[in-house]
Amino acid sequence: MRILVTGGAGFIGANFVKYMLNKYPDYKIINLDILTYAGNLDNLIEVENNPNYKFIRGDITNKSLINNILEDKNIEVIINFAAESHVDRSIEDAEVFITTNVLGTQVLLSAAKMHNIQRFVQISTDEVYGSLGTEGYFTETTPLAPSSPYSASKTGADLLIMAFYHTHNFPGIITRCSNNYGHYQFPEKLIPLMILNALEDKPLPVYGDGLNIRDWIYVEDHCRGIDAVLHKGKEGEVYNFGGNSEKTNIDTVKIILRLLDKPESLISFVKDRPGHDRRYAIDFSKAEKELEWKPKYSFEEGIKMTIDWYLDNSKWISRVKTKEYLDYYEKMYKDR
Ligand code: NAD
Ligand code: TYD
Repeated sequence: MRILVTGGAGFIGANFVKYMLNKYPDYKIINLDILTYAGNLDNLIEVENNPNYKFIRGDITNKSLINNILEDKNIEVIINFAAESHVDRSIEDAEVFITTNVLGTQVLLSAAKMHNIQRFVQISTDEVYGSLGTEGYFTETTPLAPSSPYSASKTGADLLIMAFYHTHNFPGIITRCSNNYGHYQFPEKLIPLMILNALEDKPLPVYGDGLNIRDWIYVEDHCRGIDAVLHKGKEGEVYNFGGNSEKTNIDTVKIILRLLDKPESLISFVKDRPGHDRRYAIDFSKAEKELEWKPKYSFEEGIKMTIDWYLDNSKWISRVKTKEYLDYYEKMYKDR
């Protein structure tokens, strides 16, 4: 199979590229990534010389580039990870979220349609469903009600996939997964940010009352889910994936502190995120039934592996802490 993976230098994409090259020695993977602040070729060092892997630096909104890649590389399948992915950044400036997440998806869809691509897997998010109260779970038929500019842009892309399916019989499939964690995650997201701050004995900024709930999934479980959708998913369908690990943010932060043997006095409650979704929780029974998928790792196992990875990879950490990152941190957290 010849697969175009977009956004394969980011956190989930890089984990997925490696997972697939390892599992399917006869598949070819072309990774198209523009390398934003979140794209990092260090994540792919082990596979850079693999004959089944090729990296192309480029933008998913670039129509002629996409058409050339689909033709020259005889692409059969597209898996679209490329996105702006951080809610806080989308609150500061939504523009690039619309360009990449909505327009970029449309460019990929139109090119894929023209080249008769066999399957298009859109990596979406549970955040398109909005926020839950204390009860209930997101199912694939929960109405879409995004609350942040990020989730609105991801919803726009999902609607385009479904519109192409209904209008053109286009072979699109959508995955909606809960919060991922694991190695190579950029330290703007909760778990790596807290690990890195704790390692430096810096304050751990918990938004609001710390009682917002996220369902955490170890990234390898998500990769297995995407693999299952690629091979067994039905066109025009949506599949939810979750980790069966609902936690309040404060509990998550306390677990990290305990595993790093750091004091809870590092916790600092800061101003809440505007429009902060209260709770995400996933019903993934459709994936269980139709794809025979369920998460393998408990949060306790996954978080230990994740912390060990950050402890063992200080070089990766120091290369990620660029001036751009330090400026971002200063800007986002100084007035909180
Ligand atoms: P990430 O921010 O780590 O990586 C995104 C990658 O996309 C980066 O390598 C970046 O360089 C690339 N990219 C951005 N704009 C591009 C463009 N215009 N052209 C080409 N490449 C571009 O994100 P992630 O956490 O790995 O998320 C990957 C996908 O999974 C996203 O679509 C996200 O919405 C979705 N998702 C993420 C989570 C999560 O918890 N992280 C959960 C569910 C779904
Ligand atoms: P995040 O990792 O940004 O993922 P998302 O907003 O897409 O779920 O945040 C996870 C949760 O952690 C969310 O409720 C916001 C909260 N959070 C903090 O309390 N402090 C932080 O510094 C960050 C980045 C997030």
